[in-house]
Amino acid sequence: MSIDKLARSKILKLPTINAPEASEEMIRLNANESPRSLWENNESLDLNRYPSVRPTKLFQHMAKFYNVDPDNVLAIRGSTEGIDIIIRTFCEPTKDNIISSSPTFDMYQFFSEIHSVDPIDVPLKYDDNFQLEIDEVFDAINDRTKVIFITTPNNPTATLVPYDNIMKLVENQKNKSIIVVDEAYIEFSNSPSMINQINNFENLVIMRTLSKAFALAGARCGALIGSQRIIELLKKVVMPFTFSTVISQKIIQILSSNYREKTENHIQQTINERERVISTLNQLENVEKIWPSSANFFLVRFKDTTPIYNAFKENHILVRAFQDEPELKNCARITIGTHDENNILLEAIKHS
Ligand SMILES: Cc1ncc(COP(=O)(O)O)c(C=O)c1O
Repeated sequence: MSIDKLARSKILKLPTINAPEASEEMIRLNANESPRSLWENNESLDLNRYPSVRPTKLFQHMAKFYNVDPDNVLAIRGSTEGIDIIIRTFCEPTKDNIISSSPTFDMYQFFSEIHSVDPIDVPLKYDDNFQLEIDEVFDAINDRTKVIFITTPNNPTATLVPYDNIMKLVENQKNKSIIVVDEAYIEFSNSPSMINQINNFENLVIMRTLSKAFALAGARCGALIGSQRIIELLKKVVMPFTFSTVISQKIIQILSSNYREKTENHIQQTINERERVISTLNQLENVEKIWPSSANFFLVRFKDTTPIYNAFKENHILVRAFQDEPELKNCARITIGTHDENNILLEAIKHS
């Protein structure tokens, strides 16, 4: 049984766009480019030339970074682009649906609406610390459910979905739906990644990003990681030439420098700061609840937001405040900043 059954039939018939990789000594008269650079260029950046359709070297570096085979990786311009590619590969407009669990990252619903795919919501259990009730996901699935997004840790609740529950879903939906595990914040948690399961389940895609723990949000780079066949299908849909020459070179340069080891300290510092900020806030009168966090942010409910938000305004502090969603009434999602920034936040709340 192949994953092909789940892809849109039109996509299956599409060829994968390719172009020959050009090397220095070739006379490049094949792509209607300018033969020369017209700006002063001492960085050896051939911006007169198109970059690779899909930058093989960048893919290889991303594969090494995530410790998987290059055939199991599609480098993407952040997970945001990944969500779009997955929906376009598997969901037939006006027929299929996706499942996600609110409150969560709003791009799953956003891209499903854009592509005329029905978004089904299986809300997290507010009364149970925003846990995902996996049986409710099973109840919501129908024969047009093509993609199920599991976000762990979740945004904005910072909560985890247990590994065993995701495994249940992946096993149960074998040959039926694609399970996308969005692990954007996993480096801040003590939860194992699902990456080690990609060769056991063709219907599993892990979405990772350099934007959060690896401090490269401006580079717009992440990875879809899955079985060789699923990556081949996703490659048919990804836009050609998406990574500019400048950004691929920059990311390759960064990843070539033992980057993962260099970020370990930063990740641990963020976790330590998170625990310090949460334990300080938990002692304050105006704080009603802070949900346990496995991310680089936390969700807090205040008893009265007016003095708090006034203090934030006075101190030029931006947070993500929730107003409309009933279960997030008086809640804010606050990112962990530097030690000094966190102190300013704590002082502002204490004195409000
Ligand atoms: C759960 C989740 N997934 C994905 C993303 C997007 O990350 P990227 O910068 O890789 O597009 C975010 C961004 O906030 C997020 O919260």
